[in-house]
Amino acid sequence: MKRLLLVLTTYLVSPLLLAQTVKIASPDGKIVVSVNDKKLPSYNIILNGETAIADSRLGLRFKKTAELGEGFTIKTSSQANNDSTWQLPWGERKNVRDNHNELLVTFAQQDNHFNVRFRVFNDGIGFRYEVPKQKGLDGEIEITNELTEFAVENSKNSTAWWIPSRGWNRYEYTYHTTDFSSVDRVHTPFTFKLANGTHISIHEAALVDYAGMTLQQMRGGVLKADLTPWADGILVKKTANFKTPWRTIQISENAVGLLNSDLILNLNEPNQQEDTSWIEPGKYVGIWWGMHIGETTWGSGDKHGATTSETKRYMDFAAKYGFDGVLVEGWNIGWDGDWYNNGDVFDFTKAYDDFDLKAMTDYGLAKGVRLIGHHETSGNVTNYRNQMNDAFALYQKHGIRQVKTGYVADGGKIKRIDENGIVRKEWHDGQFMANEYLYNIKQAAKYQISINTHEPIKDTGLRRTYPNWISREGARGQEYNAWGSPPNPPEHAAILPFTRMLSGPMDFTPGTFDMDFKGGGDNNDRPQTTLAKQLALYVVLYSPIQMASDLPRNYEANLPAFQFIRDVPTDWQESKAIAGEVGKYVAFARQERDGDDWFVGALTNEDARALTLSLDFLDKNKRYQAQIYRDGDKANWVDNPYEIIIEQKDVMATDKLTLKLATSGGFAIRFKALK
Ligand code: NOJ
Ligand code: CA
Repeated sequence: MKRLLLVLTTYLVSPLLLAQTVKIASPDGKIVVSVNDKKLPSYNIILNGETAIADSRLGLRFKKTAELGEGFTIKTSSQANNDSTWQLPWGERKNVRDNHNELLVTFAQQDNHFNVRFRVFNDGIGFRYEVPKQKGLDGEIEITNELTEFAVENSKNSTAWWIPSRGWNRYEYTYHTTDFSSVDRVHTPFTFKLANGTHISIHEAALVDYAGMTLQQMRGGVLKADLTPWADGILVKKTANFKTPWRTIQISENAVGLLNSDLILNLNEPNQQEDTSWIEPGKYVGIWWGMHIGETTWGSGDKHGATTSETKRYMDFAAKYGFDGVLVEGWNIGWDGDWYNNGDVFDFTKAYDDFDLKAMTDYGLAKGVRLIGHHETSGNVTNYRNQMNDAFALYQKHGIRQVKTGYVADGGKIKRIDENGIVRKEWHDGQFMANEYLYNIKQAAKYQISINTHEPIKDTGLRRTYPNWISREGARGQEYNAWGSPPNPPEHAAILPFTRMLSGPMDFTPGTFDMDFKGGGDNNDRPQTTLAKQLALYVVLYSPIQMASDLPRNYEANLPAFQFIRDVPTDWQESKAIAGEVGKYVAFARQERDGDDWFVGALTNEDARALTLSLDFLDKNKRYQAQIYRDGDKANWVDNPYEIIIEQKDVMATDKLTLKLATSGGFAIRFKALK
C-alpha cells in the first residue's frame, strides 16, 4: 500500500516537474523576483532571503476570447540590464539614476501567448503585460478582468494606510490606519508595513489609455487588481497589440526608503516635449482662500472675488513679495447658482462684467507677475472639450502659462456626451478619463500652457513624459481646513508623504497663517496645525508650484514667519528624506536647483517629539547660516498654534541639530551657504 501511494504521488507530481521558474535579482541582489508556471502563471518576490510577496497570479481576461492566464506555460525568457542617468527639467532632483535588471517572460498555450516584462530595481519592481496581435485578439479588444494579484506574505501582523476606491469623493478622504485584514477596496499608492519592518507600497506607472488600478483584498492578504470600469461596465477597450501600465511594488527595509525612490518615474517614457523653457516652477498667491472661508464668492454679486480691483491688489502683493503668479478663480461666466451641478453652463472665454482679463494680464506682466488661469468643469468634460482650444488660445494670447483645472463631480458622475448624443457617467479614474486628462495636457502643450489638475486622476509619473503636467491635487488638501468636517487631522500630513506623495507632486496649497477664521462649516472646526508646521509643508510636500494660500492681510500681519515662504524654492537639485515613520513624523532635506542653499522641513502628528538631525547632507566644505523657524516652547495646535521661534545659528555638515516639535507641529530651516 505504501509503495502504491509512492508511485501514485510520483505520477501525480511528475507533470509539475516540467514546470519552470525563471529568476531575476535587483542590481544589489537584495530583491529576487521568481516567475513560474507551476499552477498558474505567477511571480513572487523575496527581500533579503524572506518572502515578501508569495506566488501571485498573472493574466488578463477578455470579453470575446478566453483568458491569457490559466493553462499558459513559460515558453521563453530573456534578460537585460540598464544603468543610466537622465535629467528632470524640474523636480525633486536634477539627475535621476535608472539602474535595473530586466526579465522578459513569454507565456504560451497553443496559438496564444503574452509577455510579462519585469524590471527589478534596488528599491522595488515593476511589471507590465505586453499582448501582441494574435488569434482571437486581432481587432477591438475588451478586457473584462485583470487577474494580477499581490499575495502579501505574513499580512496578518501588518499595518496598512489607505483610502477607499470607487467612492463618491474620488481621492479626498482622511486616511485609515488599520490592520491589513480590514483592507477592502483601496486606491493606490497603497502602503503597508510588515511585522518585520519591511515597508511596501503598491501602485502603477505610466497609466496611459487604460483603466486606473485599484486593489481589492480577496483571500486574506491577497490583493487583486480591480480596474475602474467604463460606464458600460467594460474595464478596458484596446485595439490589438497593446501594453498595460506598469504594476509597481516599492519595497524598503524602513519607511524613509520609500520616500527616496525614483522607481515610478524610471518606468515612464522619456520627455516628449522638446522645448520646456515655458514650463515654469514657482510660487503663487490667488483669489481663492476667501471663497473657501466664505468671505467672497466665485459667482457674481456684492461678494464677487475675481474683480479687476481685487486682482490688482493681489498682483501688487505678489510683485511686492516676489511671487511668480496670481491664480484667479471665478472670473469666467458659469459660477452663479449651483456651480457644483451646473457644468453645462461654464463659459471658458467670457468674463463677468467686473473683470477685465486683458487689463489684468497686462498689469501683472508689467510687474513680472503672471496671471494663472482657471478652468472649473464641474465634471462636464464634453462642455470643456468643446471650448478647450479657444480657452487655451485666449490664455496664451494674454501671456498666461499656467492653468488650474477642476473636475468637481462625485465619483462615477463625470458627464460626457458620447458619439450618439447619449449622456454617459464615468469615473475619474477609468480609461475614458485617463485619456481625457491626458488629452487636456497635450492640448495645453500646444499653447505652451502647464496644467495643475484638481480632482485629477492619480499621478503615475507621466510628468516625465509630459512635463507641462506640473502638479495636481488627488488627496485632501488645505481646502478641507476651511470647510471640511472634520478638517485634516494632525496625522494627515505625516501620512501623505508615504502614500499619495509617492505618486508625484501635489498642489496641497499650504500656508495658513490665520487659524481663527470663521470657516464655511457650521461647527467650530479649525486647522489642526501649528504655524511652524505650515512652513514645514513647503519642503515636505513636494510640488514645483507652491501656493501661499492665505489672505494677503494675514501674511502682512506676520512678515517674519512669511519670510520663509518668500525664501523657499520650489525646484530642487537634490532631495533626501532623512527621518520618518508613516503617520508619525517625517523630515526632508532639499537642495535648491542650481544653488548652494539647503532647506529642511519636518512635521509631526498629534504627538509632540524632538528630532535630532545629522546635517551630513550639507557640503563638507561650506559653512551655513541655519535660519530656523520652529514651534515655541508652549506651542500646540489646540490653543497656542501661533507661537513660533525664529533664530539663526552657524552650522557645518559635521553638526547635529536637535529640535522640538509641538503637538501637530513642525520646523522649517533654510541653510544659507556663507561666502
Ligand atoms: C476644488 C478645488 O480643489 C479648489 O481648489 C477650487 O477652488 C474649487 N474646486 C473650485 O474650482
Ligand atoms: Ca478638491
